[in-house]
Amino acid sequence: MAQGKKRVAVLISGRGSNMEALLRAGQLPGCPYEIVAVISNVPGARGLQTAAEAGIATAVVDHRQFKTREAFEEVLHETLLVFAADLVACAGFMRIMTESFVSRWEGRMLNIHPSLLPLFRGLHTHRRALKAGVKVHGATVHFVTPELDGGPIIIQAAVPVLAGDDEDSLAARVLRVEHRIYPAALWQVAAGNCRLENGRVATDGWPVDETAQLFSPAADILPGNA
Ligand code: GRF
Repeated sequence: MAQGKKRVAVLISGRGSNMEALLRAGQLPGCPYEIVAVISNVPGARGLQTAAEAGIATAVVDHRQFKTREAFEEVLHETLLVFAADLVACAGFMRIMTESFVSRWEGRMLNIHPSLLPLFRGLHTHRRALKAGVKVHGATVHFVTPELDGGPIIIQAAVPVLAGDDEDSLAARVLRVEHRIYPAALWQVAAGNCRLENGRVATDGWPVDETAQLFSPAADILPGNA
């Protein structure tokens, strides 16, 4: 592996499709990070097999084997050190973390959440978005802080909510943008273009499309103007 790449450990609990997206981007020329390990708290998580097939080291730290959250996190932390991780990417990692663990990785741990935070923290985001009747939904990558799904936001992507949507169709639409924003976020953090500074996200050299707009449904009211 090229010198100077940030070493990334990905934490998963299940399917691992975001982990795969991070892995794919990690193989692109010029990528400033490499995935060095995929760690799961769930033995048999599907993503572990995908990672192993891609030649990535895997580890299981089964939370059920520990009496306390702290004891689990101690071993998780040690495992991250064994892999000499510079950055930690939580990707569908379904454990709430203590303040003490999070503070050890402050500014170096990212998470992806399937909603436009601060809306719909926690679970069942797509169900809750449908219930709330929002017309725009999406996904967020943020730095992890002790507040659940409350850390400073790095990048967000929005998608429309369609009239016929159910939880599955909406989840699939959101997942497609998750797979784009997570590698982008990790890339920029690994490149040093995006940092956590005094509780806020500082960026440089990361372009914004000032003209980007999403109307859902369309806002054109004149016939033939759609
Ligand atoms: C994703 O929707 C992610 O945003 C959420 O859990 C899901 C994990 O999916 N935290 P996958 O395991 O990455 O396929």
